[in-house]
Amino acid sequence: MAGRSELAAYEQAVKECVLCGLRNGCRQVVFGEGDPASGIMFVGEGPGAQEDRLGRPFVGAAGQLLDRILAAAHLPRLQVYITNIVKCRPPGNRLPLPLEVKACRCHLDRQLQIINPQIIVCLGALATKSLVDAEAQISRVRGIWFQRDGRLIMPTYHPAALLRDPAKKRPVWEDIQRVMVVYRGEKAEIT
Ligand code: URA
Ligand code: URA
Repeated sequence: MAGRSELAAYEQAVKECVLCGLRNGCRQVVFGEGDPASGIMFVGEGPGAQEDRLGRPFVGAAGQLLDRILAAAHLPRLQVYITNIVKCRPPGNRLPLPLEVKACRCHLDRQLQIINPQIIVCLGALATKSLVDAEAQISRVRGIWFQRDGRLIMPTYHPAALLRDPAKKRPVWEDIQRVMVVYRGEKAEIT
């Protein structure tokens, strides 16, 4: 499949990226993973310690919660594409700096171009500010569909926020239900 080899080639290129300083302080680039032909992409913030160690997105505690949410929605992890705003772990898990977010943006844009998902789920404030509106407040815009560049974007809370505040589980679950209605609906139309 064209998307698969193109994405694999691009991943090799990103492993050599020196557009910002983050690569100097991390073990490896966490490019993203999943189905390159998926109609849905989940975008988090940046790799944490586990992700940096394993080279895969969302494999730590937050990732395990994301897996449970996906499973509950009958959306197998292998059928979606998962990545982050920045591909290299910020030291000590600090928030990526605006310059780092800006430098890494070309990689996410290329992934979007190759995979071409109709739906993007923004996990947390950084992805929402980056992909929906720099001024967006996650608690205000979560659960609302936005349209950008012909794609539907749903912001929701980051799974790590759910671990700190279980009261956010309910709204996230409702947001995922909204996503599934559209995702299943579109799939039904295509097949
Ligand atoms: N948090 C993120 O935002 N991304 C990951 O890949 C893991 C934790
Ligand atoms: N089921 C729920 O009710 N909430 C979640 O966050 C995940 C599964």
